[in-house]
Amino acid sequence: MIEDVIASEPKPSGKNASTRQEGITNLTAQRLSDISSTEEKSRILTGISELDRVLGGGIVLGGVILLSGEPGVGKSTMLLQLCGAVSRNYSVLYVTGEESIRQVKLRAARLNVPQENVYLIAENDVDEICGLIEKTKPGLVIIDSIQTMRCADVSSSSGTVSQVKESTARFLEVAKKQEIPTFIVGHVNKDGGIAGPKVMEHIVDTVLYFEGDKMLPYRILRAAKNRYGSTNEIGMFDMTGRGLTEIENPSMQLLEGRPLGVSGNCVACTMEGTRPILSEIQALVTKTSFPTPRRACSGYDYNRMNLLLAVLEKRAGYFFGNLDVYINIVGGLSLHETSCDLPVCLSLVSSLTDQPIGDKVIAIGEVGLGGEIRSVPNLEYRLKEAERIGFEKAIVPRYGMQQLDTSVYPKLKLIGVSSIQDALHAIQG
Ligand code: TYD
Ligand code: MG
Repeated sequence: MIEDVIASEPKPSGKNASTRQEGITNLTAQRLSDISSTEEKSRILTGISELDRVLGGGIVLGGVILLSGEPGVGKSTMLLQLCGAVSRNYSVLYVTGEESIRQVKLRAARLNVPQENVYLIAENDVDEICGLIEKTKPGLVIIDSIQTMRCADVSSSSGTVSQVKESTARFLEVAKKQEIPTFIVGHVNKDGGIAGPKVMEHIVDTVLYFEGDKMLPYRILRAAKNRYGSTNEIGMFDMTGRGLTEIENPSMQLLEGRPLGVSGNCVACTMEGTRPILSEIQALVTKTSFPTPRRACSGYDYNRMNLLLAVLEKRAGYFFGNLDVYINIVGGLSLHETSCDLPVCLSLVSSLTDQPIGDKVIAIGEVGLGGEIRSVPNLEYRLKEAERIGFEKAIVPRYGMQQLDTSVYPKLKLIGVSSIQDALHAIQG
């Protein structure tokens, strides 16, 4: 139970509907074509290219960006590095409600960020902070985090729904009026959260999610809402001892050091926004020691795996009835695209028969219930990436291949398949 005190609204004085006169107003609307919108003037490039891409080409002036993620995922680290990057050209105000100034200083020193133009304050009174922003007019404001901020005139404690909403609204107002871009950190609490970032998603311009397993170094930045760009792009980062570093070549990194000549492994290619990413799918099929065999997935959809197992049994004659089946996506990634169906099927059969799939083979395609292989979008980008990484053979949907200009991929041997049997034949033959 959370107490949420509703303050009584002041009565509107005089200006109510009954005194309105028809056609009399002080408002004028501007013509859309008359409003200036020079792109380069309205955006700040951060210099962190993964972040710029997710934001749709830099930070929009006056934009309010919510960065949410679980505690400890690296939000403060990312924003401190952003401060450093932006401070070369603009002054930055970093408001921390969680750490002391000294703690931030220590972290900044460790991350080696430029400190000349970054101003720090440990404060949680929203009106005071707004006043400071208006007075100093920095180029960028960071609020870490919204759950620690409070408006003095709202009587509930900080972190409650009314405080979070009201604080966000006030920061938004200042950001829009002064055209100062503002980043707001919002923690996602374990249970989805009563006063979590969800309650302010409709207020802000952009919502970014920072995701990642705390045990694994990869961090993925995703836009869930963006008024100034696409929400398809992702940014990939690596959490190292000296802060976050960008992963410019994720495919290479994800495939690095994979075991060669082992059965049960197959490489898939998924699209993350406009970027193709290759990743390794591992399957393990073993004799069960339980009354009902175990099925488990890590990074892959459990129900989709069961569906594919059923297709393999019915359409290709491979039986998994008394066998444990495990699927693992290497690197802590989650794959949800249908283009992974074919590589998952191939790795399952490879593990079952203990026959390795070649190391230079990639498979792309959706598997239907009839065992047919269906086309997937953006096949040309996926194949370009596979060729770039050094793959030599690609198993692709036959229909999709007919639409392609195969001479664009001189180093890649394309094998078009129309059914799951064809595909299995292609890797065995
Ligand atoms: P932090 O940015 O404080 O998380 P958040 O603000 O999202 O709660 O990140 C904390 C984690 O990041 C911490 O568990 C340790 C790790 N980390 C590193 O691995 N390297 C570093 O250089 C830093 C600063 C943090
Ligand atoms: Mg933090």
